[in-house]
Amino acid sequence: MGACGSAAPAAESGVIRPWISTNLAVSIDGKISSIAHQPSGWTTREDHARLLELRRGADALLVGRGTLEADRMTMKIPGQEHQPLRCVVSRRGVFDAAHPLFHSPGGEIHLLVAENPGCDPPCGTVHHGTLAACLATLAEQHGVKRLHCEGGGGLIRALAELDAIDEFHLTLAGHTLFAGHGAPTATGLPGGFLPNSREFEMTHFDPRPESGECFLSYLRRERRAPARRDVVDQ
Ligand SMILES: NC(=O)c1ccc[n+]([C@@H]2O[C@H](COP(=O)([O-])OP(=O)(O)OC[C@H]3O[C@@H](n4cnc5c(N)ncnc54)[C@H](OP(=O)(O)O)[C@@H]3O)[C@@H](O)[C@H]2O)c1
Repeated sequence: MGACGSAAPAAESGVIRPWISTNLAVSIDGKISSIAHQPSGWTTREDHARLLELRRGADALLVGRGTLEADRMTMKIPGQEHQPLRCVVSRRGVFDAAHPLFHSPGGEIHLLVAENPGCDPPCGTVHHGTLAACLATLAEQHGVKRLHCEGGGGLIRALAELDAIDEFHLTLAGHTLFAGHGAPTATGLPGGFLPNSREFEMTHFDPRPESGECFLSYLRRERRAPARRDVVDQ
């Protein structure tokens, strides 16, 4: 593994990691897919174009193994010569060797296998250990300054638990209602709340009434100590 020439940004927790953005489309009831894990393709062409645009500028793309499988992704930026690293996280490390990712040209493949040190994935650089450690390795040893994550909900939940999301992009798809407790949300299956709040401010609001979608972006708010007045007012 080569050493990275420049320092990556440090998270507020002190953990070294890349700057991380995420992108998801959510149905009007807050689901990212159906109970049967319907693959992507249920939003408009404009949303798909935005998805590709948001990949530009990333040094690495990241998805969970569930999304890799459901969406048969090859994780590339069309028409761009320099392709970002293609990173997939798994706990068990059971990857389908016939998956198109492993048979299509593109950026280097990096696979995180968090809980199965003995496994032998089909190809690529394999990282063992935690998601946080893998993010640090990508930043420090592979020059990843900007990482863009495309889900799914299980992985976004894990990033949110690490408080490691700097910007998130949403397509609110008012034309679709998936419903069902077993349908994944932006933070995985409906379950417990995060241990504390994450603060973001809206930076982009682009409603498309003709298609029933709205493109939104949110940027992480720097944490600040409460102003004295805030404390007194409580
Ligand atoms: N609407 C959208 O924008 C959008 C975007 C993405 C995906 N989706 C949809 O969402 C569904 C999949 O979502 P999902 O939540 O089930 O899957 P996911 O987050 O893509 O993948 C979950 C898997 O990722 C691995 N993983 C998660 N957290 C990890 C961690 N901290 N460390 C190591 N590995 C970790 C585990 O893999 P192992 O099982 O291998 O251990 C886990 O089972 C699909 O239907 C897909 O089409 C929709």
